[in-house]
Amino acid sequence: MNDNRRKFLQKISGAAGAITFAPFLNTACSKKIQSKISEYKDWSADDLASNEEFWYQVKQAYTVSTNMVNLNNGGVSPSPKVVQDAVERYNRLSNEAPSYYMWRVLDRNREGLRSKLAELAGVSSDEIAINRNASEALETVIFGLRLNRGDEVVLTKQDYPNVINAWKQRALREGIVLKFISFDFPIENKQEITQKFADAFTSNTKVVNITHMINWVGQILPVNEIAAEARQRNIEVIVDGAHTFAHLDFKISDLDCDYFGTSLHKWLCAPFGSGMLYVKKDKIKNLFPLFAGEEPEGEDIKKFESLGTRSFAIEQAVGQAIDFHHWIGSERKQKRLHYLKNYWMEKVMNLPKVKIHTSLKPEFGCAIGFFSVEGKTPAEVSNILFRDHQIHSVGINWENIHGIRVAPNVYSTAKDLDRLILGIKALVKE
Ligand SMILES: Cc1ncc(COP(=O)(O)O)c(C=O)c1O
Repeated sequence: MNDNRRKFLQKISGAAGAITFAPFLNTACSKKIQSKISEYKDWSADDLASNEEFWYQVKQAYTVSTNMVNLNNGGVSPSPKVVQDAVERYNRLSNEAPSYYMWRVLDRNREGLRSKLAELAGVSSDEIAINRNASEALETVIFGLRLNRGDEVVLTKQDYPNVINAWKQRALREGIVLKFISFDFPIENKQEITQKFADAFTSNTKVVNITHMINWVGQILPVNEIAAEARQRNIEVIVDGAHTFAHLDFKISDLDCDYFGTSLHKWLCAPFGSGMLYVKKDKIKNLFPLFAGEEPEGEDIKKFESLGTRSFAIEQAVGQAIDFHHWIGSERKQKRLHYLKNYWMEKVMNLPKVKIHTSLKPEFGCAIGFFSVEGKTPAEVSNILFRDHQIHSVGINWENIHGIRVAPNVYSTAKDLDRLILGIKALVKE
């Protein structure tokens, strides 16, 4: 056995990279698809990234429209059928006798789900709270931190609006001070980004808010490097990981952050309205929950789950989404998504009037790509792409960012992107 193959087999025999076909395929796909996919089990992530036959089979696990091409998976992603079925099954069961089946049956599996999420995140299960979306996770932290008038928070103008608005509300009500920095992306220099954060830190800075992947253009920020600067100054680190969890192949424990919030309905393809909050063990006590429970200063992560009644069907079906994710494998997924972004970008980047705003390098970008067309507004471009080619993308005007975001997912094929390339070429000829 050669070295590469041995390493690959070692990797896939670990839980996170394993291609465990049976649990997913027995319930979701035919034996035909199973045997087809088994053919690729020994392939490396790099080789598989461009193998359209494999990814076409992955697509069969979804129920996506075959007429329009959905390239806005950054907003929310469709779930594979196995996840949709689980939501329906749990919902039907709940409706037999809601308080019995939700609170006495389904809720018992909450700890199993917490462990699965923790394993995927590479942290302890007593650091994971299950909630409904990234906004809820991050606003729990933003409103839960003990800050005083004059304390400073460093964030960027390119952060997500809900996050910025939450901080602005705290500034308005309590007199904390927001120090905004701004970037012109793409930037392919970690030091340049880190330095800009470090330059904004003062002796009054208590928190730094870092968006792991900027949702508008897909730029990856060097969280570790920024966190290292923050640590030296006792600054707490919040990471908005809405776009990186189950997209990039990493563990939250790699990041050296105190808090991490993410959606699960984006790149994990979990049911709509699912999210997760990580709070470092020794930070739980001092963080107030957004929805108060009996022990707001307790040390149990579950204090962040006092939401009242919510959909247990949605929560429980996150488990099927995690199984599906493992079935593909984190590394394979990241490499495929990166391949797809570069596939279309490389074919349009030299066209007249087209400008790309996302790095082609894996340290600085992955699935999300952003481009603009000289002489056309973002809305015009995305409308024309839909009208003439049935491509669903999103036109963005935010701060210094004006253009079109393109976000494929694992069910997207090179053929889908060929349609996009054709559409952009037609646009610039107009
Ligand atoms: C960077 C970023 N943070 C937070 C959010 C909020 O996510 P959710 O809709 O799950 O609350 C988004 C949503 O697009 C986002 O892009």
